Amino acid sequence: MNDLTHCGTIEIATERLYLKRIEKCDATSMHSNFASDDRVSQYMSWESFKTVEDVEKWIDEWQEEYKKDDTYYWGIYLKPSNEIIGTVYLLTEDSIAKVGSLSYCIGYNYWGNGYTCEAVKAIINFAFTNIGYNRVEAYHAKSNTQSARVMQKVGMKLDGTLRQRCKTFNGFEDCIYYSILNEGY
Ligand SMILES: CC(C)(COP(=O)(O)OP(=O)(O)OC[C@H]1O[C@@H](n2cnc3c(N)ncnc32)[C@H](O)[C@@H]1OP(=O)(O)O)[C@@H](O)C(=O)NCCC(=O)NCCS
Repeated sequence: MNDLTHCGTIEIATERLYLKRIEKCDATSMHSNFASDDRVSQYMSWESFKTVEDVEKWIDEWQEEYKKDDTYYWGIYLKPSNEIIGTVYLLTEDSIAKVGSLSYCIGYNYWGNGYTCEAVKAIINFAFTNIGYNRVEAYHAKSNTQSARVMQKVGMKLDGTLRQRCKTFNGFEDCIYYSILNEGY
């Protein structure tokens, strides 16, 4: 039985951030803050966007996805300026086993301020409390030690390594999997 409670990408506020749906008017900030930057895209599933128009098309695709209530894709916005500095995705990997997976990125100029940890903690809470996942997982390429720190700092535990499971600028790389369980959360 699938008894996950989906509600779509709803707004969540943290101490320093708003997590909310991305809109067309964010395209210029997205482009300049992270979407055109290889230092950010190198570990993501998308390639850097050359123009603001390319980012607008990407946002259009997300407007369609936002119509589904089991799709979760937040822009990370700084308070109080409302400037978009990154994104967090939450996808259902397995609705029977109630497994969700996380992916995130943030603009280079904003690294090292704890913003990603703040956003991811709020999303994990949402994933357990609102949707009802039993397990939330994430993985990083072995060379991506910053992402490993995020996973560790939000309370995720190391599950193991899948050999050469991703391809990055380094070529084939091992993927390191982490997870957090509802049990004991
Ligand atoms: C991974 C990423 C999201 C981390 O974002 P962030 O906002 O800097 O993370 P936080 O500030 O919340 O901190 C996470 C940890 O990383 C550390 N960190 C941040 N930038 C760092 C850097 N350039 N070098 C080393 N460590 C760094 C932080 O200091 C912190 O650890 P610490 O407190 O033990 O020192 C960001 O680097 C990024 O967007 N990278 C490109 C996309 C990506 O890799 N996404 C994840 C795919 S798995």
